[in-house]
Amino acid sequence: MPKCNKILEPIKRYNERGVPAGIQPVMHMKYKAVIFDLDGVILSTDNYHYEAWKALADKLGIYFDETINNRLRGVSRMESLEIILEKYNGRLTDAEKLKYANEKNELYKSLLKNMAPSAVSKEVKDTMDSLRAGGILLAIGSSSKNAKFILKQVGLNDYFDSISDGEDITNSKPHPEVFQKAAQFLGVGAEVCLVVEDAVSGVEAAKAAGMDSAAIGDAAKFNLANYNLKNFSELLEIC
Ligand code: BG6
Ligand code: MG
Repeated sequence: MPKCNKILEPIKRYNERGVPAGIQPVMHMKYKAVIFDLDGVILSTDNYHYEAWKALADKLGIYFDETINNRLRGVSRMESLEIILEKYNGRLTDAEKLKYANEKNELYKSLLKNMAPSAVSKEVKDTMDSLRAGGILLAIGSSSKNAKFILKQVGLNDYFDSISDGEDITNSKPHPEVFQKAAQFLGVGAEVCLVVEDAVSGVEAAKAAGMDSAAIGDAAKFNLANYNLKNFSELLEIC
């Protein structure tokens, strides 16, 4: 198990949390934990991913657009590269694929350095604070190997009770592993977890983990989740 994740004793932490003044605690408590996807849910990294993949696609002479970029939601870095290479006329060795994926990631990380706490909207932060004030555990379940870097950029590195990310898993969404690990790190069962996702692959992963899901953004168009959110703050009515 990675050093940064400790198995929490559930309930014990509920009353010890610092919650900003004026935040109303959620009162229904249908779920004990909410597991948030990061990219496209807590904040948007879409443009940075797009710009970095587009630079690589241009370099290799591959057609790439926003629609293809949408297919990369929730999908791991190497699987994303494979999707982009569907429109490539040549063949790449595994070593070349790794080199290009690393190149993309270096550019992506340099763009991420522009991210600041303002990248997380007040609605998102206030909603999470209200859930926390109601005693609900909050976790990240992200396919990204950059999740901790991004959370640090936006000042949320110490905010979540647990982080399960691309560094913890061998199977990418729609496999349930990332959410199973998040629940395991929190010390709670799947049946008390709600997953919040913007990717169809993420909603499928939640379902495969035996967890309820709330879809937002792109995933909400498909009617696959238990709830479709128009706004992030609607989580307060569900939880
Ligand atoms: C997911 C994104 O969160 O992380 C995907 O939705 C991305 O688009 C995946 O491919 C992996 O990201 P990273 O940061 O490890 O390259
Ligand atoms: Mg996402």
